[in-house]
Amino acid sequence: METYKVIQWATGVVGTSCLKGVVRHPKLELVGVKVYSDKKQGLDAGELMGGDETGVIATRDIDEILALDADCVLYCPLPWHTDEICRLLESGKHVITPCPYYFPFIQNPEAAAALTRSCKNGKVNFHASGCNPGGIAERFPLTFTGWCNRIDRITMTECGDCRTYSSEGVMRELMNLGKTPAQAAKNKLKEMLAKSWNEPIDMIAEGLGSKVVSYEAKHDFILANQPIETAVGIIEEGTIALNHYQHIGITADGTEIIQEQIWYCDDIEQTRLQSKMEIPRQSGWRIKIEGDVNLNVDIDFPSHLNQDERVAQGLSTTAFHLVNAVPLVCEAPTPGIKTFLDLPMITGCMGTHVTERSPGTTRTDASPDRSGPAFPSPH
Ligand SMILES: NC(=O)c1ccc[n+]([C@@H]2O[C@H](COP(=O)([O-])OP(=O)(O)OC[C@H]3O[C@@H](n4cnc5c(N)ncnc54)[C@H](OP(=O)(O)O)[C@@H]3O)[C@@H](O)[C@H]2O)c1
Repeated sequence: METYKVIQWATGVVGTSCLKGVVRHPKLELVGVKVYSDKKQGLDAGELMGGDETGVIATRDIDEILALDADCVLYCPLPWHTDEICRLLESGKHVITPCPYYFPFIQNPEAAAALTRSCKNGKVNFHASGCNPGGIAERFPLTFTGWCNRIDRITMTECGDCRTYSSEGVMRELMNLGKTPAQAAKNKLKEMLAKSWNEPIDMIAEGLGSKVVSYEAKHDFILANQPIETAVGIIEEGTIALNHYQHIGITADGTEIIQEQIWYCDDIEQTRLQSKMEIPRQSGWRIKIEGDVNLNVDIDFPSHLNQDERVAQGLSTTAFHLVNAVPLVCEAPTPGIKTFLDLPMITGCMGTHVTERSPGTTRTDASPDRSGPAFPSPH
């Protein structure tokens, strides 16, 4: 069985889940961990994730990481740096990340060109993925469009009480929670956020054989009517405690594609908010397809889980998706940016039975033919 050497880059909420995923994945071997925090420098990866000792020691030294013999880096920092991703690619390591760029060719052509160049120099691949973007925003809706004929509108809605999400950067900077309206209006990440939602819109359009001809962004919010406790400190009264974003693309063929997020710091009753909005669900996702076939696909966590467990599992889905993508990204033809339109189906891996889904695989008696599709490459 082919195995792949993996480096974990950054061990925040998502990175720590990745570590857990890597050490239990039968095809993966952890060979390095890059951290930022002084406190984590020199610790065994097992200690970082609350598990058994691994013998892999965390380092802050980028050169040490670059020099490692590894197949793939799971790159999970905040903030992320395109130059850094390029250096990793040039060192001959595939990169998989929950950060942009999911489908950069239209929104971020310069980054797409830089990544493509570095992939070429390093003879490797780059793949950005996760839960949303990386699943809800494009992979799953595209899958369900295979059940449809005429498609008028596709809406992906994420609803989440975020109070237990412990990433300060994601909560306060990316999600814009706890800011005054004036601060939120000046948030430098606003444009980046819009591009991050437009990228999956572009990917869906391309998957449908079309392209986006107009984009629109809508944002409204509700303020806290009292201090609200969260994992990243108090969201003060009078600051944003619910953000409602919609990014909308219309394709040349008239399909409307909507990425919608309702991120809030309260329970569904919204008693801590200055006003209420109709929130379709406590937490989870809805993919809605309208056309001659009408579908609502709801993805939820079971009701016996408490809110902490739901948030933790939601973030684990991001991490495990990255981990499970490693063999496929390493085996995909090189070099280049691999989106969901280029990769075979990414599945979990529970055992050592060899399921090869790379091109050129031949069926053997010992291994039933489960080889996936050839790689269509639109880029
Ligand atoms: N696509 C998706 O579905 C999805 C979902 C969730 C998150 N994300 C993205 O995934 C990334 C990680 O999210 P998270 O929830 O794990 O965030 P997080 O808990 O804030 O972790 C970020 C990590 O980045 C490292 N870091 C600290 N200072 C840094 C700096 N100055 N420059 C670069 N990195 C620094 C730290 O690593 P150490 O602790 O090791 O020192 C920190 O733990 C974010 O970029 C987020 O936007 C994507």
